[in-house]
Amino acid sequence: MTSIALIGPGRHGTVIAQGLVAHGAELHLYHHRPAKARAAAAAIESHAKNGGSVTVAASAAEAVAAADVVFLTTLWDAPQRQVIGELGEALVGKILVDISNPLDVTPAGIMMRQPAEGSAGQFVATLLPAGTGHVKVFSNVPTAAILTASDKTPPAVLPFLADSDETAARIRPVLELTGWQPWYAGDISRSAELEIGGPFNRIQGRWGRAAADAAQIEALDGPERRTA
Ligand SMILES: NC(=O)c1ccc[n+]([C@@H]2O[C@H](COP(=O)([O-])OP(=O)(O)OC[C@H]3O[C@@H](n4cnc5c(N)ncnc54)[C@H](OP(=O)(O)O)[C@@H]3O)[C@@H](O)[C@H]2O)c1
Repeated sequence: MTSIALIGPGRHGTVIAQGLVAHGAELHLYHHRPAKARAAAAAIESHAKNGGSVTVAASAAEAVAAADVVFLTTLWDAPQRQVIGELGEALVGKILVDISNPLDVTPAGIMMRQPAEGSAGQFVATLLPAGTGHVKVFSNVPTAAILTASDKTPPAVLPFLADSDETAARIRPVLELTGWQPWYAGDISRSAELEIGGPFNRIQGRWGRAAADAAQIEALDGPERRTA
């Protein structure tokens, strides 16, 4: 059983969570509004199969204490600063999975931002305490494709970035629980390529937008980076 914390289940995070529990993950959920936590848990639980489960934690710290891997699925910037700042040293030794794009949601609409660090992933890297693994994934994938492209033959490929080969090797079995084929594409410095408008986001693949098979990803980006 793989134990995962997921903090901030909204549109994208809830569907990612549905895919994880459908493939047997034990999910510990935290949302800062209890009513939204309950609604997300109900929407996720209805997808649980293969021993997968979801529980609602009373705090982000409680969710993280129960898991080795932490999916942070809030919007970028201020909520990421808040959650990572609050968790602090509790993240050390764990892997933080970052799905964000540099988009501000404002009353006037969604605004694209250009992070000073180069990408939302590189911004998140500046927030993490030393000793925390960092994975960038799902920024390129439309919410609607997460479940519809899972468990395909051949599989839809899920490109991911990691701060080290060791983190990449540790996260691979967790990402397999999405029903996509994880594909290690390099380090966090490539985040802009995985984020909105980047080549991995723009690809029209066999299974829809940004949902490509291995041959299509290899044609786009060359062979997968291998870990020892
Ligand atoms: N939606 C997509 O199509 C899509 C596709 C690719 C990538 N992404 C990326 O995925 C990320 C999430 O996007 P989304 O569309 O899912 O956003 P969303 O629907 O706004 O979900 C984020 C959730 O996080 C909650 N939250 C905020 N602060 C929190 C905290 N301190 N603790 C716990 N929960 C907190 C929010 O609650 P309140 O709003 O109630 O404060 C909200 O429900 C973004 O970075 C986005 O760029 C989204």
